[in-house]
Amino acid sequence: MDQEKQLHPPAPDQALEQVAREQARSKRTSYVIKGCTIALLLVVIAALVALPQMFGGSNNNDDNNNRHHDNTASSPPPPPPPPVPSPHPSGPNTTIIRDTRLHQSFYGMDYTPHGSQYYEGCGVTLDAVLEDIKIMSQLTTRVRLYGMDCDQAGLVVQAIKLLRVDMGVMLTLWVDGNSTTYQRQYNTFWKFLQDHGADHVLGVSVGNEAVYRRQMEAADLITLMQDVKQRLKSMGLEQIPVFTTEIRDLKHLIPHEDAVLDNVHPFFAGTRPEDAADWTWQYFYDVDQYPTLIDAKGRMQETQAKPAIISEIGWPTEPAAHRVKGAVPSIANQQTLLDTFVCQANQRQLPYYWFEFKDQPWKAALFNETRESYWGLFDKDLNLKPSRIPKCNHNVHSWQKGNYTVPQPAPLPDKSSSKTTN
Ligand SMILES: *[C@@H]1O[C@H](CO)[C@@H](O)[C@H](O)[C@H]1NC(C)=O
Ligand SMILES: *[C@@H]1O[C@H](CO)[C@@H](O)[C@H](O)[C@H]1NC(C)=O
Ligand SMILES: *[C@@H]1O[C@H](CO)[C@@H](O)[C@H](O)[C@H]1NC(C)=O
Ligand SMILES: *[C@@H]1O[C@H](CO)[C@@H](O)[C@H](O)[C@H]1NC(C)=O
Repeated sequence: MDQEKQLHPPAPDQALEQVAREQARSKRTSYVIKGCTIALLLVVIAALVALPQMFGGSNNNDDNNNRHHDNTASSPPPPPPPPVPSPHPSGPNTTIIRDTRLHQSFYGMDYTPHGSQYYEGCGVTLDAVLEDIKIMSQLTTRVRLYGMDCDQAGLVVQAIKLLRVDMGVMLTLWVDGNSTTYQRQYNTFWKFLQDHGADHVLGVSVGNEAVYRRQMEAADLITLMQDVKQRLKSMGLEQIPVFTTEIRDLKHLIPHEDAVLDNVHPFFAGTRPEDAADWTWQYFYDVDQYPTLIDAKGRMQETQAKPAIISEIGWPTEPAAHRVKGAVPSIANQQTLLDTFVCQANQRQLPYYWFEFKDQPWKAALFNETRESYWGLFDKDLNLKPSRIPKCNHNVHSWQKGNYTVPQPAPLPDKSSSKTTN
């Protein structure tokens, strides 16, 4: 991944990058056309001057770029413009190698491509995203992103289409309280819809824990959500659910959302790994599902509660010293949560996004917080960390274009015994 960064110098701006890419593309096309025209002329001249030689010659050319240049030996004309090197001489690599250790058991997967941090100069490539999606498509049919920077959403949807895998994408417009950041996310989102359409879009989250980080008030977040919803409606895309992803102030936010997304972390609650799944069923019901039922009752026209989704659940694997009470980072403990949560959640019809696909070493560097960097099922080099991926029926997990239905678990029977955390 470091190598990629050197190959792709920092892009100062999303738009500039796009313009540059388009210019490069049209330049490449014009070279090819010019090259072909000159080459064609050469072939005609050469054929007239040295017809016998041409048929007698045995020039082997398997390189497409040089296909027309094989007769120059007989008449020395000025050389044609050099071919522009292409990163994909024979198209991107779309070969999926099946990994028998993997099973498509996950409802969804949280994903941040390496090199998708704007402040680090981007650098993410289609090739790298393709390799990630090849693996992810063997684990799940849904992927959730955290921002629009560095064209990450565009690359993911391009990869999904190139690989012809059946996957939907949940998008996030990252909110950090800086209006420049938001404007960049916002512009990229509309451009994304223009370029790639909405077929693979499962929904759009305005922010991720922005209220929790005190970078925005719930009321302002609601205004942003309403704006996005309004504009989608004006484009005839009102079916796309709009929401935020938040762990605070849910009761203010829920009435204004199409779905409720909560990052639910038994690790930070300090549960022992063997208790983590049970803790999660209860927390999800108390904090996320029950309030949606109340909200639906409050609005008499509603026949059904809006869906609640666990947008993050997972377990860090290191460093072991950064424990939270009974919750200790380790691969064995991550395995325990996988074994006790994934198939059980599927059976309960509880929708969740596993946090997260692969390790994010940049977080340690940026936030000086090593505990945030090692939640991956895979390490940064795509080596699988746990020894077993749960294998279970994923019928309820197939994803269908344009179907925004989200399964919901049956409400837990005993609400009275539960604690209210928010
Ligand atoms: C294409 O990618 C797969 C892994 O995804 C790899 O095994 C294979 O070697 C690659 N093929 C080429 C020609 O690079
Ligand atoms: C907001 O972000 C931009 C770059 O995206 C930066 O130039 C600016 O200083 C930031 N503003 C604040 C108040 O942090
Ligand atoms: C990073 O965090 C550690 C403690 O976790 C601290 O000792 C160290 O000084 C911090 N480094 C920086 C650059 O903030
Ligand atoms: C949408 O998907 C759900 C399962 O998630 C399924 O029960 C329902 O029939 C689907 N609706 C349509 C219109 O295909």
